Amino acid sequence: MLSFRRLKDTSGGGHPMPLHVAVIMDGNGRWARKRGLPRIAGHRRGMEVVRKLVRLCGENGVKYLTLFAFSSENWRRPAREVQLLMDLFASALENEVKKLHDNDVKLHIIGDLDRFGERITSLIKDAESLTSNNQSLTLTIAANYGGRWDIAQACQKIVKQVQSGELDDQAITEETVGSLLCTHFLPEPDLFIRTGGEQRLSNYLLWQLAYAELYFTDVLWPDFDDEEFLAALQGFSKRQRRFGQTGEQVGQATNA
Ligand code: FPP
Repeated sequence: MLSFRRLKDTSGGGHPMPLHVAVIMDGNGRWARKRGLPRIAGHRRGMEVVRKLVRLCGENGVKYLTLFAFSSENWRRPAREVQLLMDLFASALENEVKKLHDNDVKLHIIGDLDRFGERITSLIKDAESLTSNNQSLTLTIAANYGGRWDIAQACQKIVKQVQSGELDDQAITEETVGSLLCTHFLPEPDLFIRTGGEQRLSNYLLWQLAYAELYFTDVLWPDFDDEEFLAALQGFSKRQRRFGQTGEQVGQATNA
């Protein structure tokens, strides 16, 4: 194992570290363009940042990392870039999974996976099955994912369950919806990070991010290094999460 950077806990026992971090890795194309390189060079460099981030999460007590690798809308990119992104995804599944497994990382791929070809589908199945008992970190890759799609597919399941008599319509709660989203095995994200300067959610985890702390940075994803991630964690540790309560209530509960 390599040695990693660890953030000093200065929270005094509050919420020092997010348990679940969700990320939009934006800016690969611009990073490449600035250097006169093809966009795929930015995605390749972005992949290296993913490797580093997985290690840093392990070192800092983050137990769940969820990355937006390919949105439902990304199919609209030039066909050549889509193909190269698919190749990168397939080669990551082929070459990285063994290392993830050796580091006790559990891998999940979420999204509308029907659109992927046979090769990627079978690599996903093998990777999830190999790593299913790992516990140090759960790495979830959102691929052909959209937050609205996720909510819609949960609604379809609810309707089916009501129609079959398995579920009473009066018993439908927020928990019912949450349990049918494709993130049902994850706690809600505590911290959302978006690199690349845009300040929007871009149809990512719309339901799940309801109470997440949002962190935006202008840094392009390939430049998102250890210092940048630790700055995001540090920022999170200073925020007071109120979940609808007043600051005083939260202060009393923390000091009790
Ligand atoms: C956004 O940058 C990035 C993507 C659409 C793809 C992200 C993919 C990786 C980081 C590598 C693969 C990762 C895994 C886990 C397989 P952009 O192209 O929109 O950049 P731009 O806004 O500068 O054009």
